Amino acid sequence: MYLRLATLFLFTATLTQPTVAFAMPSNSYLSTIPEGPPDAILGIAESFKSCTDPNKVNVCVGAYRDSSGKPWILPSVRKAEERMLKDDTVNKEYAPIAGDGRYVELALRFAYGNEMDLGSVAGVQSLSGTGACRIGGHFFARFAPKPKGLDRLPIYIPNPTWGNHIQIFKECGLDVQRYRYYDSKTNALDYDGLIADLKEAPDGSVILLHSCAHNPTGCDPTLQQWKDISDLIKEKSHHVFFDSAYQGFASGDAEADAAALRLFVKEGHNIVLAQSFAKNFGLYGERTGTLSVVCNTPEERSAVMSQLKLIIRPMYSSPPIHGSSIVKTVLEDEELTKEYYANCEEMADRIGSMRRRLVEVLKEVGSTHDWSHVTSQIGMFAFTGMSSDMCDELTSKYSIFLTRDGRISLAGLNEGNIEYVAKAIHDVTDGKSITS
Ligand SMILES: Cc1ncc(COP(=O)(O)O)c(C=O)c1O
Repeated sequence: MYLRLATLFLFTATLTQPTVAFAMPSNSYLSTIPEGPPDAILGIAESFKSCTDPNKVNVCVGAYRDSSGKPWILPSVRKAEERMLKDDTVNKEYAPIAGDGRYVELALRFAYGNEMDLGSVAGVQSLSGTGACRIGGHFFARFAPKPKGLDRLPIYIPNPTWGNHIQIFKECGLDVQRYRYYDSKTNALDYDGLIADLKEAPDGSVILLHSCAHNPTGCDPTLQQWKDISDLIKEKSHHVFFDSAYQGFASGDAEADAAALRLFVKEGHNIVLAQSFAKNFGLYGERTGTLSVVCNTPEERSAVMSQLKLIIRPMYSSPPIHGSSIVKTVLEDEELTKEYYANCEEMADRIGSMRRRLVEVLKEVGSTHDWSHVTSQIGMFAFTGMSSDMCDELTSKYSIFLTRDGRISLAGLNEGNIEYVAKAIHDVTDGKSITS
C-alpha cells in the first residue's frame, strides 16, 4: 500500500517537475520563423473573447445569433440530427472522394432550382464555402486557358470582398485582380465602375461574383443589372465563378436569392459555383458545401468530375459526413424542408429588423447622419461607411468589436445591446463624415 502511494507520489512529482531542456540541433530553422499576422476577422474574435468588459459586443464575425445573443441551432437541423441518431443504417465510414452523391444532388437542386437538368452538372461535396472556393480556384488554374500574353490566369474579385478570397485564389496560383464594386461617396454599388473594370479585364478572365447578399457591402446588382453583367461577360468570353454563401439570408427566401445564379445558367454560362451551408443552415462548424461546374454534355461532366476528384484527393481525401447528412436529411423530407425554409426566414427577418432598429435608434440618440444605406443594404452585414479610426475608437472606448472597414454583423445586435451600440456609433461619428 505504502509502496503504491510512494510510486504514485513519485510519478505525480515527475509530471509537475520542470522539464529538462533539450539540446538544440545545430540545423534547426524553427527559430528563424517569423510570427505571422493574426487573421483580420478571426483575430478580432479572439480579442473579443479575451475582453473582460461586461458591456462588450461582438459585431465582427458573420455568424447568426438569436435575440438573446446566443448561437442558434435551427429546429429543423435538430430534428434531422435526432432522426440520424435513431437511424441504425447510418455509419461512420469514409465518404467517397466527391462526397455523398445524394447530398450533392439535393444541394445542387437547392441552388439551381427544380427546373434545372443536373445531368451535365459536375458537383462535389466541399469543406464549406472556403473549401469550395479552393477547389474551384485550383480547377480554373489547371484547366481554363490563360488570356493571350499572360503567364497566369487572372481572377477579378470585387473590391471590397470577403477578405479570404484574396489569399485563397493566390494559393491556387491565380493572378488576383480587383474590380470596383462599392462607391464610398454614395455608400452604394459602383455599377459603372464594375462594368468599366470587367470591360477592361483581358478577355477570358475569371470573374468572381457573390450570388447574393454581397459580403461586406450588402449591395447586390438589380436583376436588370445582373442581365447586363451577364451580356458583358459573354461578350468578353470571361468565366463566371459564383460564390454563394448566403442563399436565403438576403430576402429570407432561398428560391428568390438564387435568381442571379439561375439567370446566368439560363443565359448559357458554364458557371462554376461555390456553395456554403454555413450561414443559411447554421452549420458553421460542420464545414458543409459543394463545388459545381455547369458543363455542356454528360461526357464533359464525367471528365470534369474525374479532375475535381484529382484535386480533392491530395488535399483531404474525402469530406466529413455529419453536416452533409444533416442537409441531406432536411432536404430529402418535405416537412423538414418546409420547416427549414421557415427557420431561414426567421433568421433573415430578425437581421432585417435589427437593420431597421439600428437606424431608428441612431436617430433617437441624436445622430443626424443619413443612415439610409444601412436599411437599403441586405444580408448579414451593414457596411456603415465608418472609417478605420472610428472602428478603432468603438473597440478601444466601448469594447465593440468589428472589422476596421466599418462592417457590422447585424446578427450580433439585439434589444439588449442595440442602444449601447447606437450611442457609441453616434459618439464616434458625430460631426464627422461617414462617406469619403
Ligand atoms: C462571401 C463568402 N464566401 C465564402 C465564405 C466561406 O464561408 P464558409 O467556409 O464558412 O462556408 C464566406 C464566409 O464568411 C463569405 O462571406
